[in-house]
Amino acid sequence: MIFVSFSKEAGMFKRIKGTQDFLDLTLFNFIIEQAKKHFSEYNFTEIATPVIEPTDLYHRSTGQESEVVTKQMFRIAVKDGEQMCLRPEITPSIIRAFIENNVIQTPWKVFTYGPVFRYERPQKGRYRQFHQLNIEVIGSESISQDASFVKMLDRFFSDKLSLRNYALLINFIGCFEDRKAYRELLSQFLDNVEQDICKECKIRKEKNTLRIFDCKSPDCQKIYKDAPHITDSLCKECKGEWETLQEELTLLSVSYKVEPTLVRGLDYYSKTVFEFVSDSLGSQSAFCGGGRYNQLVSQLGGKGDQPSVGAAPGIERLMLLLEPIRDTLVLPQPPALHLILPMSKKQDMLALLLADTLQSEGLCTDILLEGGSIKSMMRRANRMGAKYVLILGDEEQEEKKVTVKDMVNGKSDQILQVELVEFLKS
Ligand code: HAM
Repeated sequence: MIFVSFSKEAGMFKRIKGTQDFLDLTLFNFIIEQAKKHFSEYNFTEIATPVIEPTDLYHRSTGQESEVVTKQMFRIAVKDGEQMCLRPEITPSIIRAFIENNVIQTPWKVFTYGPVFRYERPQKGRYRQFHQLNIEVIGSESISQDASFVKMLDRFFSDKLSLRNYALLINFIGCFEDRKAYRELLSQFLDNVEQDICKECKIRKEKNTLRIFDCKSPDCQKIYKDAPHITDSLCKECKGEWETLQEELTLLSVSYKVEPTLVRGLDYYSKTVFEFVSDSLGSQSAFCGGGRYNQLVSQLGGKGDQPSVGAAPGIERLMLLLEPIRDTLVLPQPPALHLILPMSKKQDMLALLLADTLQSEGLCTDILLEGGSIKSMMRRANRMGAKYVLILGDEEQEEKKVTVKDMVNGKSDQILQVELVEFLKS
């Protein structure tokens, strides 16, 4: 069991390993705003589900043998014995919400975003608390839905986020029966190379054969290049869907590469699986993963199957991709700052009233209440990037005026306090 602990050094608290402080949320918010715009254009509705969920939810969906469940879950010990965890992914929560709230209108097209927790070894692009966008279509069997879904993601990355340097890897892992047949073929292949594969892959071979493809060892990966391809073991129906999917992606001008060893690390996938990857991210190259999952609703206690497809882009990895092209993005600009400078304590009350008036009119306003000489206050105003400085001294107070200094052109004006809003708005 993994317990959350605080590290304390010389009386100073440090953030927990693998977590981050975001002191500048510009890129984060840009991604969220673009996502809200984009996915609503495709008729998706925003929802939110809790960050804590019953641990068993992930045992029965993500998979008992998956790394996420066996090694990476933050479990919470609760006195009354109820087993909870911090969500290691969001898809099972969305399916739980679908079932629990008796959603009947399908396809249920929803998106959400928020923190996700996995106890992994932290490195660039890999954190223990990170954020995902999650987009799901629940209750749609058509393989054309997958083509349309992948196109929607591709457009999000290329058009809304202006990403260029990325690729889409795609594979088709068939239905349950196909995977059963393929597992046998793969086992036979592994029998012949068993002496050359790593210890963990020997365990994977017995417990969850397809997982061998997730192995990080270059030696194992070299061996698996000669493994049989799952797309050669598809039944007639799946083979037809795989062909249709590729045709439709081509029709929609989506560039993709078929990756025969892509099986994804979560247990619920069937048929389509895909990842968007970028070389610029280093070893954690996948910035979005997803696929089709047809049995999750019934597996989690819902009535009947609801064939579904979904994906989760990782926000931190998107931020890493956006940082180098930040200057080319149309990012929201902070509003012009109006900074009030009371020259002495005597002007503080007037400053409060004036600030309140300006703020109620929607003008971004702050007051320098810490005092100091006019020179030092002007220096601070400059550092704060104030557009206008509003000086309140004895004379201004007496004459019910304000000295307004435009920090861009250096021009000063004396304005009656009652006319200040009108002056600033014009
Ligand atoms: P996943 O591939 O496990 O899929 O995660 C999706 C994305 O989350 C990854 O591509 C990556 O960008 C980000 N990510 C994962 N782990 C970390 C980490 N430790 N640090 C930073 N970012 C990370 C899922 O979670 C599925 N629920 C996706 C899905 C939705 N499938 C169907 N619907």
